[in-house]
Amino acid sequence: TKANIGVVGMAVMGSNLARNLAHHGYRVAVFNRTYAKTQTLIAEHGDEGEFIASEHIEDFVASIAEPRAIICMVKAGGPTDATIEELLPLLSPGDVIMDGGNAFFRDTIRREKYVSGKGFHFVGAGISGGEVGALTGPSIMPGGTPESYRILGPMLETISAHYEGEPCCAWMGPDGAGHFVKMIHNGIEYSDMQVIGEAYELLKAVGLSNQECAQTFASWNEGELSSYLVEIAAEVLRQKDPRTGKDFIDIVADRAQMKGTGTWTVQTALELGVATTGIGEAVFARAESSLDELRAAGRTALKGPDRTVSVNDRDAFIENIRKALWCSKVVSYSQGFDEIRAGGAEFGWDIDVAEAAKIWRAGCIIRAELLEQIRQEYSTDPKLVSFMAAPSIAPKMAEYQDAWRSVVAAAVTAGVPAPVFSATLAYYDAARAPRVNAALTQGLRDLFGSHTYERIDDHGHFHLEWSGDRSETRID
Ligand code: 6PG
Repeated sequence: TKANIGVVGMAVMGSNLARNLAHHGYRVAVFNRTYAKTQTLIAEHGDEGEFIASEHIEDFVASIAEPRAIICMVKAGGPTDATIEELLPLLSPGDVIMDGGNAFFRDTIRREKYVSGKGFHFVGAGISGGEVGALTGPSIMPGGTPESYRILGPMLETISAHYEGEPCCAWMGPDGAGHFVKMIHNGIEYSDMQVIGEAYELLKAVGLSNQECAQTFASWNEGELSSYLVEIAAEVLRQKDPRTGKDFIDIVADRAQMKGTGTWTVQTALELGVATTGIGEAVFARAESSLDELRAAGRTALKGPDRTVSVNDRDAFIENIRKALWCSKVVSYSQGFDEIRAGGAEFGWDIDVAEAAKIWRAGCIIRAELLEQIRQEYSTDPKLVSFMAAPSIAPKMAEYQDAWRSVVAAAVTAGVPAPVFSATLAYYDAARAPRVNAALTQGLRDLFGSHTYERIDDHGHFHLEWSGDRSETRID
């Protein structure tokens, strides 16, 4: 009998997904360019379920029942296109190719157009949860035709993580919608990690040891900050270096790397005109951390305070950091969800924002208690302008803001960089200010370049004759 589904690419993510499918009773066809990897999977895990291993891609495709569902788990970029090219001549009309890598959504739009033009379905699915998630239940964000979801959806929902019985997998919309939502997930992942790092630096600045910081994160994880990233922050900080016995965190080089999804989130936000400042600062912070020459020069040439925060009541300050973390997290998520909505409108996807929050409640890297609240708010009011201004959130922001301000002020005074803490606070303040400095920007633009301005008391665009009699001209 034929396989229910096929998986191409037997690196960790691919083989773990294949095993996950097999654990749930699916017969899984597996293929890898180098057959040895497939053989390793079968040798090590072949008894976990039903696998059909093929050395040649023709046999692999032929071993899958029609309409075929084939999950492609190869390296993003060129290898994905190459695999599609190899599969296309072997498919039958109505077959589905799913790309489960971290593809850029614009590539997914292109690939979907190309593959559907040949009579097949192409699904771009974001998969989050890392290697363990792929094996035990990831969060899955598929985009493509509704018909392709009828074929793939039930299997994906079965193997996904579940939150109170509900699968963490849902159809996000046509073509690039799934990878777009995954991109935003990763952007939020960046800001979450950066702001956790900022909290850690501030905890150290008031004198906490790594072990005490670990304790603090662990206790925060019991409350409203409960999230996978806070939980594993405690784990990383508790860890000892197996070589030297020192705290692991202190022997890791202080340069954050990235594979690009955060950068895409910010690039796309800039194109959409959405101010995802939390994610933006997180991407820039990783970039600055890796500018070795700048940091070497800065360490000698640039003077400032020595990064110690002195406070009368240390516990009270730690509690302020906890509140600041919650506020910054709310703003970053708010901005990310704004980008999902803007992208949905721009690319014609009509993404259900509450659905995105729903499938992020378990399985994915940014899983957090907050996501259930986000889901509730967006399902109660799908037109919600901004999550941070939601009925259950805004009053708490009001309550926590003094703590947040004191943390940002302390960081600035002590010389501890806290770009996400401060940028998200600035965003909050800009959103609530009756006027920001935009009017002056418009005045300057009109003076130096006749770029026109609008009035508060009239419609249309105007220009002042700055170099003449300073009379006003209506432009339109
Ligand atoms: C996930 C993760 C994952 C990603 C890493 C690396 O949702 O499981 O987002 O897809 O590979 O987080 O991202 P960076 O290398 O850019 O940090």
